Amino acid sequence: MSKIKVGIIGCGGIANQKHLPALKSLSDRVEIVAFCDIIPERAEKACKEYGAEGAKVFTDYHDLLAMDEIVSVHVLTPNVSHCELTCAALDAGKNVLCEKPMAATPADAQKMLDAQKRSGKILTIGYQNRCRQDSLTLKAMCDNGDLGEIYYAKAHAIRRRGVPTWGVFPDKSKQGGGPLIDIGTHSLDLTLWMMNNYKPKSVMGASFEKLGRTLQPGNQGNTMGVWDPETYEVEDSAFGFVTMENGAVIVIEASWALNTLDISEALTELCGTKAGADMKDGLRINTVLYDKLTTIKPDCRTPKGVDFFEGFGALRPEVYEAKRYYDAIEGKGEPVVKPEEAFVVTQILDAVYQSAKTGKLIEF
Ligand SMILES: NC(=O)c1ccc[n+]([C@@H]2O[C@H](COP(=O)([O-])OP(=O)(O)OC[C@H]3O[C@@H](n4cnc5c(N)ncnc54)[C@H](O)[C@@H]3O)[C@@H](O)[C@H]2O)c1
Repeated sequence: MSKIKVGIIGCGGIANQKHLPALKSLSDRVEIVAFCDIIPERAEKACKEYGAEGAKVFTDYHDLLAMDEIVSVHVLTPNVSHCELTCAALDAGKNVLCEKPMAATPADAQKMLDAQKRSGKILTIGYQNRCRQDSLTLKAMCDNGDLGEIYYAKAHAIRRRGVPTWGVFPDKSKQGGGPLIDIGTHSLDLTLWMMNNYKPKSVMGASFEKLGRTLQPGNQGNTMGVWDPETYEVEDSAFGFVTMENGAVIVIEASWALNTLDISEALTELCGTKAGADMKDGLRINTVLYDKLTTIKPDCRTPKGVDFFEGFGALRPEVYEAKRYYDAIEGKGEPVVKPEEAFVVTQILDAVYQSAKTGKLIEF
């Protein structure tokens, strides 16, 4: 059987850390036939390392989308461009795996949903944290009702000093925001998915620009290099209080720089009527057994050197994510993330920003 032909748009950090290695692990099923980046050396380098024989290199994504043989496109560019590139790819008849967040605004995310419906192609968003062992295990428990009704949750994405210093992360015009849209998005996605609740009612939010623009090189303590306070344009922390239609509430905490020791990201904490769960020290289920407070710790370590097992024991999250997407293209099941779910994540994050700006409750 011939392999599914893939095009890559954006050959920077996430392409090299996640997508290209994941596609390499699926090389019996897919081959990358085109690479596009506005910085040509990046596309050339990726092509050399990961390209199929005769793979092409472009600086204009229209040229890549004009290749009829391409069936699937990975959109791996800064947030604000996701909408334009994804819509163009869907309209060109390609399936799309777009990086997270879906878009910088709900209006853009809506355009992507519309393009997906128009095209009838598959669109999924790169929330690979759903594909971790702890996440898949917790999701199975939630779906099985083991936690009961989940009425309180916390989406946690806090770094003490973890301002990204590559790419365009502190550039508001390219990313649409800071840690909330960058890492808060993963935690909120996990939380909504576990709760299986995509009906927000209202959001109250606050955001802060206290450290990013003021801490000078030499006094930053950043774990990701030195950032330039002069070009830092986004919030350094943001917090949200979300009330869902069914009365459940979610607290969102997101920061790249906050003076706290309570750090962790891409995690959720859930409190239900039968049990609670958190992911801070591995997966922990908090319940009562035989009248005793009991904490159960499923062993969710990933076996070393394994790409995936059968079933949901899937292994490197990015390989599992890609596998499910390519299965869906071949008509076998659904991708891990439905675009309608990622749309609600974008809506809620935008509402946090809007509430922070206006000081008002945002109602849906
Ligand atoms: N899933 C995750 O955990 C995760 C982690 C990091 C980044 N991301 C997401 O991935 C996306 C890219 O982030 P990154 O860290 O790779 O950034 P990056 O800056 O390292 O890479 C982006 C690349 O896109 C190229 N580019 C920009 N506009 C383009 C265009 N119109 N056409 C072709 N190429 C273009 C840039 O030149 C750059 O090489 C962002 O949306 C980010 O949120 C996701």
